[in-house]
Amino acid sequence: MDKEFLQQLAQQLRKPDGDMGKKVGENMNASNALMNTFTLQEMGIQPNDTILEIGMGNGFFIKDIVGDDDSITYYGCDYSELMISEATALNKLYIETGQVKFFLTSADKLPFQSHSIDKVFTINTIYFWSNPSVELTEIHRVLKQGGKFFLTVRSKSTMENIPVTQFGFKIYDQHLLRDLLETSGFKVHQVIEKQEPDMEFNGNTVKVSTWIFCAEAV
Ligand SMILES: C[S@@+](CC[C@H](N)C(=O)[O-])C[C@H]1O[C@@H](n2cnc3c(N)ncnc32)[C@H](O)[C@@H]1O
Repeated sequence: MDKEFLQQLAQQLRKPDGDMGKKVGENMNASNALMNTFTLQEMGIQPNDTILEIGMGNGFFIKDIVGDDDSITYYGCDYSELMISEATALNKLYIETGQVKFFLTSADKLPFQSHSIDKVFTINTIYFWSNPSVELTEIHRVLKQGGKFFLTVRSKSTMENIPVTQFGFKIYDQHLLRDLLETSGFKVHQVIEKQEPDMEFNGNTVKVSTWIFCAEAV
């Protein structure tokens, strides 16, 4: 993987666009499937929950949230026009019934009333936020008091060993993420670490693990 390709890939992961963005969106469905599964397991979604996802990419996993229960409402916010249109096409039926809605917006300006959402989650997005306290405070604002927030990222050692992350990704350790959450109004109940199968980059084997921060708006 040469430098120019990695730079383009980093830009596409940050904000997918055009033909390459479409492909990157599809590839993420495979490479990030376990992160989605682990996060949904921890969320304990209940009937009548209103769920907000920030940065849902092409929305491939939404069926796993709303598929069995039409009392669940799902909102997805993403600032990529391409991801909104891809997610809209993939979830057409749920949109028609009003169970799923997408919003083209950045995470620092969420189009929801304060204290209106039961659970918020976001996977593989905080690396791109220049001042994450702003987005986290906004997420806190829209959550009901006692509402839950799930922040899922690759662990620091994993991120440091994935070549693309040298191009504009902010890499966090657990202490910094915990501090950010707590100073933005959350109580962190637990941080779950999950191991995933190794990945190969340029002939190097990378050990992959995921952290899920399970927090509550207090
Ligand atoms: C690396 S992709 C991750 C997609 C999916 N969550 C996953 O893990 O497979 C990041 C997604 O978040 C979106 N995103 C990143 N920062 C954002 C922000 N500040 N506001 C809204 N969307 C954002 C990007 O457009 C992209 O769709």
